[in-house]
Amino acid sequence: MLRRTVAQFLRAVRYRNRRRLVNLRHRIRFYRDDIVVAPGTHVAKGVVIGRGTRISEPSYLEPCTIGSYVAIGGRLTVRSGNHLMQFLNIENDLQVRTIGAPSVLGSRQMVNIGNSVWIGDSVIILPGVQVGDGAVIGAGSVVTRDVPAYALVGGAPARFIRWRFPEPVIAVLAGFDWWNWDDARLRRNRALFEIDLTTVDPHDLAARLREAT
Ligand SMILES: CC(C)(COP(=O)(O)OP(=O)(O)OC[C@H]1O[C@@H](n2cnc3c(N)ncnc32)[C@H](O)[C@@H]1OP(=O)(O)O)[C@@H](O)C(=O)NCCC(=O)NCCS
Repeated sequence: MLRRTVAQFLRAVRYRNRRRLVNLRHRIRFYRDDIVVAPGTHVAKGVVIGRGTRISEPSYLEPCTIGSYVAIGGRLTVRSGNHLMQFLNIENDLQVRTIGAPSVLGSRQMVNIGNSVWIGDSVIILPGVQVGDGAVIGAGSVVTRDVPAYALVGGAPARFIRWRFPEPVIAVLAGFDWWNWDDARLRRNRALFEIDLTTVDPHDLAARLREAT
């Protein structure tokens, strides 16, 4: 009984120290890359977040990649694995520590979220989902399938609602990675960010993107 209590205590201390180190590494990167992550957010080791991304309220992130300039509301949950369901027991500590059997945690299936994505409040993104650049995920969605670039999806399970822009415009935008520009270049091209992409002529847009310096 005493041995078990001591072992549990040491495990808790080790876990806390590991989390402190992970949190410190994350905080340094967030500062360097102008990333805002709401206090209280769980950011697992292995989470990579791009420049200028904002998470407004506490969220829970298992290993995943999140691109640059992603706008995230609150209470986002990203999961990167499922429990194995084919065995008698499904709870991992019991399986590994008490019974001594192999883990019932499945392999990692990374979630990758693109750049310039908007994620509404209280969204759950399930293991292995890929979210394309410029996508929008409506509040309260449970995302079980990949989301194409510039699509708007919503619901549980999240379904395609509409494209953000006409499809010829989305075709022109493919590969246009403004999120990798530095701040000076973004400012120099301010006019591009004021174009209404729901009404623009795709040929005009293509010409303007070619001229962007
Ligand atoms: C996704 C969203 C942007 C869509 O806005 P919109 O383009 O104005 O869409 P509409 O209100 O015209 O709805 C279009 C359809 O999608 C549905 N829909 C909209 N949002 C939805 C959501 N979150 N989940 C499920 N369905 C949704 C509507 O019911 C409607 O369906 P219908 O055509 O069958 O009636 C908005 O609904 C949303 O969820 N915003 C997030 C707000 C938020 O969380 N902000 C804080 C974070 S920064």
